[in-house]
Amino acid sequence: MNGLPNEPAIAARDLCKAYSGVDAVRGVSFDVAPGEVVGFLGPNGAGKTTTVRMISCFLPPTSGSATVYGVDVRSRPRDVKRMLGICPQEDNLDPDFDVLKNLLAYGRYFGIPGREIRARAERLLDFVQLGDRKKSAVQELSGGMKRRLVLARALLNEPRVLILDEPTTGLDPQARHAIWTRLRGLRATGVTVLLTTHYMEEAAQLCDRVIVVDHGRVLMDGSPASLVEREVGHTVVEAWNYEPTFAAFLGSLPGRLEEVGDRLYFYPAAGDHVERLLDERFPGQERLIRRATLEDVFLKLTGRALRD
Ligand SMILES: Nc1ncnc2c1ncn2[C@@H]1O[C@H](COP(=O)(O)OP(=O)(O)O)[C@@H](O)[C@H]1O
Ligand SMILES: [Mg+2]
Repeated sequence: MNGLPNEPAIAARDLCKAYSGVDAVRGVSFDVAPGEVVGFLGPNGAGKTTTVRMISCFLPPTSGSATVYGVDVRSRPRDVKRMLGICPQEDNLDPDFDVLKNLLAYGRYFGIPGREIRARAERLLDFVQLGDRKKSAVQELSGGMKRRLVLARALLNEPRVLILDEPTTGLDPQARHAIWTRLRGLRATGVTVLLTTHYMEEAAQLCDRVIVVDHGRVLMDGSPASLVEREVGHTVVEAWNYEPTFAAFLGSLPGRLEEVGDRLYFYPAAGDHVERLLDERFPGQERLIRRATLEDVFLKLTGRALRD
C-alpha cells in the first residue's frame, strides 16, 4: 500500500505556521524512520503542539510540507489520519460517554466493524489497566486514567505512527511510570512514535532520538547520549556556599562555568581529574559531582529564563 523501502515514517520539510502576529513554527525539518521513537523537546511555547498538529492534519501549515509514509498531509488527510494514532495535549474524551463507549464511538470514525472495535477496545483497556473501569464515567477518572484512556483510543485503529503530545504532563510519578511501561511495550512492537515532552527523564528513557526545538526552530537533533556528550560532556560539578576564590579557580579550568542564583555549575572539558583536584584544593567545599544529563543539554540550549 504505502511505503517505499527506506521511506521515512514522518518527513517534515520547512514547516511554518504563523498565527495572527505570532510565528509559532519557523521552518522545522526532520525525518522519523519507521520504528523509531523520537522525542520532540522544548519549553512551553516552543512550537511543539503546533508542529505535531500540522503533521496530524489538524492545522494547515502556512508553508512547508509534511508526509506520513510518503502521503502528503495536505492533499490526502484522510489517508494520513488512518495511519496515525493521536494523543492530543488536552484530553478530549467525550464526557457523555463511559470509558468503553468512548472507544466504541471513536472506532466508528474509522469504519471498523462493530465486533472488531469491541474486541480491540477490550484488549486495549486491559493493556492500559482500565479493564475494570469500562462502565465508569469519564469524570470519575483520575488524570492518569484519562491519559491512559486517550492512549488506548489512539491505538484503536492500529496506527503505524503514534503522535503523543505531552502524554504524561501533570501526572504523578506512578501514573507517569505506568504510561512509560506501556510506551516501552509498544516500542517493542515496532510502532513509530513522535512524542512531545518537557520531561527530560522521559525523553532519555523512551527515545532513540530527540529533537530540541525553541522559538519555532530546531536547535539540535540526535540520540540522547550523543547530545549529552557533544553539548555538555560527561561530568557536571554543582557547588553552593562557595567563596569567590572557588569560582575563580573553576573559571581557570578548561570548561564552561555558569552561576545561577546561589549555585555554581561547572561543565569541565575533561572531567576525569576534577574530583581529585577539588578534594586537594577545596576539601571542605560543599559540592556534588554527577553525570551530565539531557536536562543539562536542554538548559544549555534553551536557557534558564522562565517561560509561560
Ligand atoms: N491558536 C493560536 N493562536 C495564536 N497563537 C497561538 C495559537 N496556538 C499557539 N499559539 C502560540 O504559538 C506558539 C507556540 O505554541 P505551541 O505550539 O502550543 O507551543 P508548545 O506546544 O511547544 O508549548 C506560542 O507562542 C503560542 O502562544
Ligand atoms: Mg504544547
